[in-house]
Amino acid sequence: MTVDPHAPSKDVPSALADADGIHYASGPNALDDNETVAYPPSPSSYLDDGRIYQAANDDYALPADDAEQARLDNQHYGIKTIQGEKNYVAPVAEALPNQGEGKRAIDIGTGTGIWITEMAQEFPKAEWIGVDLVPVQRDDIPDNVQFVKDDITKGLAFPDESFDFVHGRFLLLGVRDWAFVIKEATRILRPGGLLLWVDITLPWPIVGVSEDEAQRIAPGYTKMLKAVTQATQSRGLENAAGQKVIEHMNDITSLENAHQVQINVPMWPWSEEPAMKKAGQVAYAIEQC
Ligand SMILES: C[S@@+](CC[C@H](N)C(=O)[O-])C[C@H]1O[C@@H](n2cnc3c(N)ncnc32)[C@H](O)[C@@H]1O
Repeated sequence: MTVDPHAPSKDVPSALADADGIHYASGPNALDDNETVAYPPSPSSYLDDGRIYQAANDDYALPADDAEQARLDNQHYGIKTIQGEKNYVAPVAEALPNQGEGKRAIDIGTGTGIWITEMAQEFPKAEWIGVDLVPVQRDDIPDNVQFVKDDITKGLAFPDESFDFVHGRFLLLGVRDWAFVIKEATRILRPGGLLLWVDITLPWPIVGVSEDEAQRIAPGYTKMLKAVTQATQSRGLENAAGQKVIEHMNDITSLENAHQVQINVPMWPWSEEPAMKKAGQVAYAIEQC
């Protein structure tokens, strides 16, 4: 079964399979036992150094296997901790009033679907769509969540002005053309809706410390950072994604009140402050992956 790329999402079936036999499960009608998910591995994935990577496009370079899913979930909890155990730092409740009644929301690059699952529980009357290149999403999801395969870099399978809330998080490693992605996210946003994008700006400096001093006190971290930054650059990706997002938002005249919230993430559990210490523990564990 294929998805009509221009069909309104209400027409998207609740259990989908693409041409490669990869299935996308959703809410109450998730795949049953004889519709086994052909992943991993599948014709749309490949093995490299014992890890499994997606082959839906040539851009996104992180693995799509169990270890990566665990990392993404841990990362989610780390970010949530820094945000005061909240899933957003934006007026989401205003965009989805009355628990989201009659509203539609989309999460672009949804990953394991952990964020959208929690959001769908917080706003249970909204309809939630999670979009990703690969079917790594959990299947223990609320009835108001549906997952769809799509590639934001090629344009999304939704008509103009389809969503009241558009969200994307951590697509730095999958996007070369940020102007296009932000335009596309805006295209599917309804007037009066909210676009929230959370992304990273590399390299991550040690706050309040000069480059030389960072090299002296944290040589391993500095080396790792240099390697990551060079790797992304050599793939033609934008290291300053977090910064680019707000610049492109400001370029789109139909977007009003665009503004940026900058959050520094602790990379070690050094802080005395419990939330930052916990977030640092998570980040440190992720660095070991
Ligand atoms: C670093 S993960 C972040 C996942 C999730 N947003 C979160 O914060 O937990 C990036 C996700 O975006 C997906 N992705 C990468 N490029 C994409 C694209 N062009 N279109 C849709 N999804 C993409 C990847 O498959 C991956 O699941």
